[in-house]
Parts: sequence; C-alpha cells; structure tokens
Amino acid sequence: MSSPDDATPSTPLRFDVLTLFPNLFEGFVGESILKRAIERNLVQVHRWDIRDWAEGKHKQVDDRPFGGGPGMVLMAPPVVSAVESLRSGIEPPGRLIALTPQGRRLDQAFVSELATERRIVLLCGRYEGFDERIIEELTPEAVSIGDYVLSGGEVAAMVVIDAVMRLIPGVLGDSESALDESFGPDGGLEYPHYTRPRVFRGREVPEILLSGDHAAIARWRRGNRR
Ligand code: 6GU
Repeated sequence: MSSPDDATPSTPLRFDVLTLFPNLFEGFVGESILKRAIERNLVQVHRWDIRDWAEGKHKQVDDRPFGGGPGMVLMAPPVVSAVESLRSGIEPPGRLIALTPQGRRLDQAFVSELATERRIVLLCGRYEGFDERIIEELTPEAVSIGDYVLSGGEVAAMVVIDAVMRLIPGVLGDSESALDESFGPDGGLEYPHYTRPRVFRGREVPEILLSGDHAAIARWRRGNRR
C-alpha cells in the first residue's frame, strides 16, 4: 500500500513494446529489479506482437524494398494499425519512440526526462528499417542507444526500459540507490568497491574501509573517484 507521504507514485509507468519477437522480453521482465518493480506495480511492461495486426493468410509483416537493394523492410499497414489501436484506448497515448540506429542518442538526461512520463510506447524495428510511411503517419521520436548496428530494436528497448525504470521512486532499495552513481545528481564518478574476502590473491581491501570512520571513508572515496 502507498500512503500519502511516501515517494511511491499511485500510477505505474506503463511501457508498451511493439515487436516481432515478444518472447525476447520474457527473461528480462522476469528477473531482478524489474521483476520486483512490476510485482509492486511501479512499472508495467506490455508486449505486443506486430504480427497480430498483419493481414492475410501469411500474416506478412515485412517485404522487399521497392527499387531493389538488400534486406527486408517493415511494412506500414500492420505497424500503423498496431500503434493506433494501442494508443486509442483509455490510457494516455503516451510518448511514441521508434528504436533505430539513426535516432537521437540515448543519454542519462534523456532517460531522466522519460522517467517523468506516465506511458512510453516503444516500437522495435527489424531488418533494414521501417517503411517511410510509418514515420510519416506516426511521427515517432527516433532513438538510438549508440553508434553500432543491432539486429533489431528489442535489445535497445530493454536498455531504455532498464535505464528509465530504475529512476522511478521506490524501484531501487536503499542498497541499490541511484543517488551516488556516476551520472547521478552529484555528477561524481564511481569509487572502487570491495566486499568479502578481505584478501584475494594477496590483494587486500584498503584498511580505511574497515576502520568504521565514516568521514574518513567518504574522504577516501572522494579522493579515489574514477
Ligand atoms: Cl535503437 N536499433 C538498432 N537496430 N541498432 C541500434 C540501435 C537501435 N541503437 C544502436 N544500434
């Protein structure tokens, strides 16, 4: 239960993922921090199979490019139908993001902005890309996770979900705090971490970390940022 004075939002952040491979997300949503956030209804991750909006006996979702060239192109009709039907219900339409290597590069400032949304719709491309009419009809924000080419947007969508959900109040426990990490509000870089055993292959944990002197430990960590 949430009480008026805790930091837990009353409505979860809802992700809707449109993909040709919804099963890729099963392990991702079923483990660790995201699993717990979903169980606590802080985050929802709905997966939708674009093929369910495809027409005809073969439920075709991709085809060869007009004009020739390599690879296949994601067809406009199933993708546009899928996105429109998802966004037209009672939920807010949400922010529509297409994952593509040509998009705006994801960084922590953009992640923080996304964490303020109530709903984010993630459209995962495959093959050579989207039919241009998809972009024209839906005008998604194009987002990339870096300068390299993936086989599809699914792994990138998981990166977006992971980075965003951990900023939702209540998702991280005290032991996982997002506050003192490299890109946190302090902007400080991370310091070296140690846990048991105290000696590993002759390498000892710095004595100060065992001292119990919290001020001295904080000073040591500030002085040992990377
Ligand atoms: Cl979002 N999609 C694909 N296919 N490749 C990528 C990417 C996205 N971001 C970096 N490379």
